[in-house]
Amino acid sequence: MRVLLTGATGQVGTCFQDLAKANYPQITLLATDRSQLDITDAAAVEHLVGQFQPDIIVNAAAYTAVDRAESDPEGAWSVNVQAVENLALAAQRHQAFLVHISTDYVFNGESNKPWVEEHPCDPQSVYGSTKLAGEKAALAYGQSVILRTSWVFSEYGNNFLKTMLRLGKERPGLSIIDDQRGCPTYAGDIAEAVMQIIFTDSRPVGVYHYSGSGEVSWFGFAKAILQKACAVGLLEKMPELTPIPTTQFPTPAKRPKYSVMSTDKIARAGIKPADWLPRVELVLQKLKTSLP
Ligand SMILES: NC(=O)c1ccc[n+]([C@@H]2O[C@H](COP(=O)([O-])OP(=O)(O)OC[C@H]3O[C@@H](n4cnc5c(N)ncnc54)[C@H](OP(=O)(O)O)[C@@H]3O)[C@@H](O)[C@H]2O)c1
Repeated sequence: MRVLLTGATGQVGTCFQDLAKANYPQITLLATDRSQLDITDAAAVEHLVGQFQPDIIVNAAAYTAVDRAESDPEGAWSVNVQAVENLALAAQRHQAFLVHISTDYVFNGESNKPWVEEHPCDPQSVYGSTKLAGEKAALAYGQSVILRTSWVFSEYGNNFLKTMLRLGKERPGLSIIDDQRGCPTYAGDIAEAVMQIIFTDSRPVGVYHYSGSGEVSWFGFAKAILQKACAVGLLEKMPELTPIPTTQFPTPAKRPKYSVMSTDKIARAGIKPADWLPRVELVLQKLKTSLP
């Protein structure tokens, strides 16, 4: 099986490569970072897909700087929409299956029960709007699946877990938002879900939600991260945590208040989400062993 991966230096992209190397020897993987394949370059995408002839294209690349996107809508559009069109067209021309990753930010967050795939989207930010338009571009080519995920963390790149760890070391106290709820998702579990899709006999097409199981607020997530960090010896002392409302931490992009997505549909397709809490410990252990 020939797999072309984009966004190889991102959280999901790096975990996907680790997993392919460790557990999927049957995959011939071409992992590309931006310098090897800028997905906004339609000619480069067509050329590489034509040359490599992948069975599967996994698009782990995206414009993920949620706040920056508010002042750079063209930049976000070019990566999250135009580039996905490029990939979908090349996939169509060369008969590859496209796996694309999207986000909880396609919803407006105004709910108190888990979002299902069929629920109308209503993004509240440039990032969310461009990701929704990107989904449409991927879906226009029928041989594609969209995995919507949320609150991604891992041992790689920039994410909430790593930020909490850094701030927990630097400061005696932290104020964390407690009125936004969602489901943290380990990037390695997203990679595993993609593998399961790739190797399913009748591959699911269309939109699926995939996130870690168990909902929590950012405050609850931070508390779990910092407590585990103390337990594994990455942090000497638990900082004092203060729950705050969103209004006390204004950001350029509006965040959804309630981001919990139902994962029933993907579970019916045989792919079971994993609890996020043990993954926090796993990531912390990995970070500990990678310390000099
Ligand atoms: N992070 C989250 O909390 C979260 C939540 C929900 C959904 N998602 C979705 O999950 C997916 C993976 O997210 P992630 O956290 O792994 O993202 P990430 O760590 O920010 O990685 C994104 C990757 O995309 C690459 N990229 C950006 N523009 C590119 C271009 N023009 N051509 C090629 N590569 C380009 C980046 O390369 P550079 O490093 O060179 O910029 C980076 O390697 C994305 O679709 C994202 O929207 C993420």
